[in-house]
Amino acid sequence: MSAPSLPAVPPHVAIIMDGNGRWAQQRGLPRIEGHRRGVEAVRTITFAARDLGVKMLTLYAFSIENWRRPQDEVGALMGLLEFYLKKELATFVRDRVRFRTIGRTGDLPAGVQKHLRTTVEETKHFTGYTLVLALNYGARTEVVDAARSYAAAVVAGQEKLNDGSWDSFRRHLYTADMPDPDLVIRTSGETRISNFLLLQAAYAEFVFTPVLWPDFSKADLAAAIASFAGRERRFGLTSEQLKPAAR
Ligand code: IPE
Ligand code: IPE
Ligand code: MG
Repeated sequence: MSAPSLPAVPPHVAIIMDGNGRWAQQRGLPRIEGHRRGVEAVRTITFAARDLGVKMLTLYAFSIENWRRPQDEVGALMGLLEFYLKKELATFVRDRVRFRTIGRTGDLPAGVQKHLRTTVEETKHFTGYTLVLALNYGARTEVVDAARSYAAAVVAGQEKLNDGSWDSFRRHLYTADMPDPDLVIRTSGETRISNFLLLQAAYAEFVFTPVLWPDFSKADLAAAIASFAGRERRFGLTSEQLKPAAR
């Protein structure tokens, strides 16, 4: 049973969307076709998550390491991203979805950056539901960027080196104004984290599913949430401490 004070629906769900290439390969299609179908799954899951009561959805869309893929695949992914942003803006505005990103977006192609800026700007006043795309994201890079930002803040007198704490350090992460993920899902049967939200997922629950990302449905998301609801998150405490009333 989950602790009574914790919500049954995870407020923040983060997903490592994996398996587009294998989805295509299984059908004798080019990998990019898997990515195209992956974008369809992004659309479905963005609204499915909200329907199920999730407040924030973070999707790992492109890692720092993904630049090392063949150039034509990287180019096609960037093209798809630009196309997606162009097409989705109207939907986000209509359905009141706040859009934001985490990662070194400054290194993405200029066209992508332009659409990112517009989408973030035009949806920034929505408060009910947020979609976060992790783009050119890597957790180790994030720590390096945060350490640099923290050091600069110390030099500027805004942070004090001697009373450094997690609460002050986390203000320098890309996720400074975001809650930590409660549930992290990875599709495609891989059981690794691949440099995703390493620090923020310190106390997240994990669900690994064999479903390939293009096939991931609202029912699969609901199943992951049901699994989450059945767990006890102890945060270092004992089970008894979490349920004193029951004893
Ligand atoms: C996930 O699918 C999408 C990205 C990493 C951009 P993959 O492209 O990694 O699919 P597999 O793992 O090769 O099947
Ligand atoms: C993780 O998937 C990155 C994204 C989902 C964007 P990868 O397919 O790149 O991960 P590895 O290489 O299998 O660990
Ligand atoms: Mg993969």
